[in-house]
Amino acid sequence: MAGYLEMVKLGKTYETPNGPAVIVEEFDLELSQGEFVTLIGHSGCGKSTVLSMVAGLNPISDGAVLVGNREIEGPGPDRGVVFQAPCLLPWMTAFENVMLGVAKVYAHGTDRQRREIVEHYLSLVGLADAMHKRPAELSGGMKQRVGIARAFALAPKVLLLDEPFGMLDSLTRIELQELLLRIWDSLKITTLMVTHDVDEALYLSDRITMMTNGPAARVGEILEVPFPRPRDRAALLETDEYYELRERLIGFLEGQELERGPLVDAA
Ligand SMILES: Nc1ncnc2c1ncn2[C@@H]1O[C@H](COP(=O)(O)OP(=O)(O)O)[C@@H](O)[C@H]1O
Ligand SMILES: [Mg+2]
Repeated sequence: MAGYLEMVKLGKTYETPNGPAVIVEEFDLELSQGEFVTLIGHSGCGKSTVLSMVAGLNPISDGAVLVGNREIEGPGPDRGVVFQAPCLLPWMTAFENVMLGVAKVYAHGTDRQRREIVEHYLSLVGLADAMHKRPAELSGGMKQRVGIARAFALAPKVLLLDEPFGMLDSLTRIELQELLLRIWDSLKITTLMVTHDVDEALYLSDRITMMTNGPAARVGEILEVPFPRPRDRAALLETDEYYELRERLIGFLEGQELERGPLVDAA
């Protein structure tokens, strides 16, 4: 299948006090429609840089990003984004936070239709009873549920997730992985997700893209994850294949560590 989301020789050079720094170079990746791909790599290698360029939030230095064969120019409602911290407006309720985007994207609809969309997605993420609470009254996991509801409510063509569960405790993280997968299974939105958690990558993705270490990071290896869907975490953990794939991921990441030489504490 032809690429639906395409990164073509994507590159990023940041201007720094010490001159230009090439962080990502010739990054090539194609996602077919409805595919779930994760991007894994060491901290500081350039994962967020790639994702933010795809989101249109970070200027592209070289190459291009295409969605449905059209080159992106800046952010757009065709791409929904979920970050590590959900950036909710503190003076607004969960409902109002989600409505903010929905009002823009469904400007042609009626008030009632917009309200139903917001309620539908907040219920889907388990916040039916909390949708009129403000962020200060919500736990970290609940806030991230709002972030997920907001992204899906805009019916984007592409979903972009940057370590959305990175700040959550491990039980909440697992709960939200289940939730994301359940919604994704029913909508099959083309998804690119950054993570540095190998188990999260194996559980969620169709393919895992391993990024080399920067500077000048690019696609190292791509791993196909052949497990059938809908997935059952417990069943996966009982297969030998799961551990073989896990070993390959960890092997790649350790190899990158060796190439980098002495550990530097990247951000
Ligand atoms: N605005 C910026 N200016 C200069 N350097 C940056 C900027 N943003 C990120 N970097 C550098 O680019 C590298 C990759 O960062 P990032 O994409 O955030 O990595 P990751 O998400 O993989 O942890 C890091 O070395 C970081 O310090
Ligand atoms: Mg990052």
